[in-house]
Amino acid sequence: MFNLSFLSFYLLLTSVEVASGQAAPDFPVSASATLNVTYGTNDISPPGELIPRPEVGNPPTISTDVFTLTKRGVLCMVDSDVPRNGTRVQLLHWLVSNVTVSNSSTLNIPIPGEASYRQPSPPVGDIPHAYSFLLFEQPESFSIPEQFNDVLQKRVFFNISVFIAATGLQDPIAANYIRVQNLTGVTGTATTFPAPRPTSEATGTPNATSSVLSFPGAASPVVIGRGRIFWAGVGTAIIAGVAAFAL
Ligand SMILES: *[C@@H]1O[C@H](CO)[C@@H](O)[C@H](O)[C@H]1NC(C)=O
Ligand SMILES: *[C@@H]1O[C@H](CO)[C@@H](O)[C@H](O)[C@H]1NC(C)=O
Ligand SMILES: *[C@@H]1O[C@H](CO)[C@@H](O)[C@H](O)[C@H]1NC(C)=O
Ligand SMILES: *[C@@H]1O[C@H](CO)[C@@H](O)[C@H](O)[C@H]1NC(C)=O
Ligand SMILES: *[C@@H]1O[C@H](CO)[C@@H](O)[C@H](O)[C@H]1NC(C)=O
Ligand SMILES: *[C@@H]1O[C@H](CO)[C@@H](O)[C@H](O)[C@H]1NC(C)=O
Ligand SMILES: *[C@@H]1O[C@H](CO)[C@@H](O)[C@H](O)[C@H]1NC(C)=O
Repeated sequence: MFNLSFLSFYLLLTSVEVASGQAAPDFPVSASATLNVTYGTNDISPPGELIPRPEVGNPPTISTDVFTLTKRGVLCMVDSDVPRNGTRVQLLHWLVSNVTVSNSSTLNIPIPGEASYRQPSPPVGDIPHAYSFLLFEQPESFSIPEQFNDVLQKRVFFNISVFIAATGLQDPIAANYIRVQNLTGVTGTATTFPAPRPTSEATGTPNATSSVLSFPGAASPVVIGRGRIFWAGVGTAIIAGVAAFAL
């Protein structure tokens, strides 16, 4: 088990890395510890597992055995691949403070929270969207400044870096992410999606035989277990017939 000072020291050592840890590759923040996220009976493993959209209708249960939450926590879920104005922006799917952990390591997550859970619903035909789960230690006098009232409602154009700076949160203590894609829905007006977010592994050939996971200090992985080729990379824009309103 880590104690906090060790963890802080460790995070300091690894803070120069862009994409270590378990949040989505090249998400602005990540953690060295994995947050256990379970949808139904499906434990998300490896990080970035592609999950069918119907399975993410209800919020997951979340636990962690690396971190002992002595006080309270702030839980956050963010889609970092939402197409807007020819680029990819963030959308807040879930934000809850006053999270506590039971001695079975399961998080007690107040309902509905400051921003209630919203089902991943990427636009039909788009690349898989990455949804990062982050657990922060909650500072003593935590509150969400009024400047976020609008984004708590509208969700889109969230900015995790700005949020962390404004609320005084430290680096997350544990993180994980899922990916969700929708290729089966009814299509609408033809639309060109923006290219995927560039990642630090944007060049190079995916190595489908490797099952290297993201680990502290590592560069972001190209391949994630079970032979899945990770979608990192500069791709040509995906053409699909749909209005890019879903999130
Ligand atoms: C978290 O996940 C890891 C790896 O899947 C597993 O070994 C561990 O028991 C899980 N811990 C909890 C508290 O669920
Ligand atoms: C996105 O585009 C819309 C319409 O062109 C514009 O009103 C809005 O300000 C833009 N938003 C950002 C964040 O650039
Ligand atoms: C978030 O805000 C920072 C600082 O203003 C900016 O550099 C970054 O591009 C923003 N990220 C997104 C996804 O809008
Ligand atoms: C969190 O808990 C504190 C203390 O119990 C309470 O004052 C505060 O209103 C709670 N925050 C939310 C968002 O419910
Ligand atoms: C875990 O919680 C249960 C119920 O609250 C309590 O009876 C038990 O003593 C606790 N165990 C530990 C190790 O704290
Ligand atoms: C895909 O998106 C469409 C439109 O939002 C929705 O009706 C459909 O149920 C989605 N498909 C899946 C498999 O979730
Ligand atoms: C793929 O990864 C394996 C294991 O790391 C390595 O031995 C092999 O040389 C790699 N292949 C390529 C084409 O990079």
